[in-house]
Amino acid sequence: MSTTSDPRYADRTSRPKTVERTIAVCFVAALASVVGFAWTYWQSGPDILLGVFFSTIFLGLGVGVIAWGKYLMPQGPFVEDRHSLASTNQDRAALAEAFGRGADSVKRRKFLGKLFVGVNALFGIAFIIPLRSLLGAKTPGNEQYYTNFGKGTRLVTINGEPVSLAALDVGGAQTVFPEGYVGSATGQTILIRPQATPLVTKPGRENWSPSGYLAFSKVCTHAGCPVGLYLQEFKELLCPCHQSVFDVSTGATQIFGPAPRPLPQLPLAVDSQGYLVSQHDYDEPIGPGFWSRGALWNGHNS
Ligand code: FES
Repeated sequence: MSTTSDPRYADRTSRPKTVERTIAVCFVAALASVVGFAWTYWQSGPDILLGVFFSTIFLGLGVGVIAWGKYLMPQGPFVEDRHSLASTNQDRAALAEAFGRGADSVKRRKFLGKLFVGVNALFGIAFIIPLRSLLGAKTPGNEQYYTNFGKGTRLVTINGEPVSLAALDVGGAQTVFPEGYVGSATGQTILIRPQATPLVTKPGRENWSPSGYLAFSKVCTHAGCPVGLYLQEFKELLCPCHQSVFDVSTGATQIFGPAPRPLPQLPLAVDSQGYLVSQHDYDEPIGPGFWSRGALWNGHNS
């Protein structure tokens, strides 16, 4: 209960103990969630659990602080008329007294205060734990430069089935991967068949398109979205993210949108059993640019 008879400083609830208990439960829930968050992170637990704990920390803290401010703190209204710039001795004395009463209101709830500080302190410590990820991080290798396509690697569908020369009608398109790496983010490739005869997209690519099949990296050179829309009528590939358009007849050169480079083309061949294979890896790193993209490129996998 409030220690003053002034209604401005009275609790805004007739059941302050219940409110205090509720706030304590919120802070304890937040505290437990901090521990849960740290434990889950340490155990490399599922992201969704991290998210649940993270949300509960803020929910517990938020509800607790709001309830504290709404029901247990002096509410006012506090109005000071501006008729005089200098406060009278009487006003100063009244202010000191009012300030003291507000402080009383906080002091009386030391337990809640300690809980609140404890949650925040633990929360701060929990944020140090992710530094482990930086300290123990593996130095990136050269994965960003190469895909799993190599000499004679079969192209397979999302079901892992090899793609034969008869797989697509003219105008067709299909997503394919290197054999053994279905679902690979870097190996995802769009296979299209604009025509039934070889289509030379650039000088030096005369034997890259058996029976009119062309294959381009599906990873957009702008921001990495999958370029999955093939406009058969115009022989164009469209990236749905920011509408970059690539002309497949000229080697998927970008003709519209923010993409800065063409989509890399995969050189195709046919193996002795009639299945499409790659002659070697892409001729350049796939996807968006990165700081050492050109500097450390040593040529494709053979
Ligand atoms: S990611 Fe393809 S246009 Fe932006």
